[in-house]
Amino acid sequence: MKAVYLSLVLLGLSCIFTAQAANLFAGQERAAAVCAQCHGIHKPAVGAPFPSLAGRDAAYLKEALKQYRSKKRISDIMNAIAGSLRDSDIDDLVAYYSKLKP
Ligand code: HEC
Repeated sequence: MKAVYLSLVLLGLSCIFTAQAANLFAGQERAAAVCAQCHGIHKPAVGAPFPSLAGRDAAYLKEALKQYRSKKRISDIMNAIAGSLRDSDIDDLVAYYSKLKP
């Protein structure tokens, strides 16, 4: 009985870890394919007029992306980009960028 319980706990834990890894990986993929063109990964290209995202506060980044998506915050570029993001995409991107060293 104890062994069954233990293996269930381990199974549960491995699911949590896999899900988290998948989020970060998905965030990394999208960041590299889309966001990095302007924002870069660790920082934007020198002199580029884009805010850097690496290591920024997660709650701030999440709020900013939701505001762009709902057009509460106006930016032609970011309204178009955030408009196609799902909640889970935003979570993935924020998880990735907020954990990066600037
Ligand atoms: C074509 C260029 C471009 C791309 C691609 C782009 N952005 Fe932006 N982003 C901008 C610009 C320009 C601003 C500043 C807009 C403003 O004045 O609010 C901005 C602002 C932001 C901000 C607000 C930062 C702050 O300091 O308030 C966040 C967060 C953000 N972008 C996230 C993303 C993410 C995540 C992606 C990828 C899904 C992305 N951006 C892709 C150009 C881009």
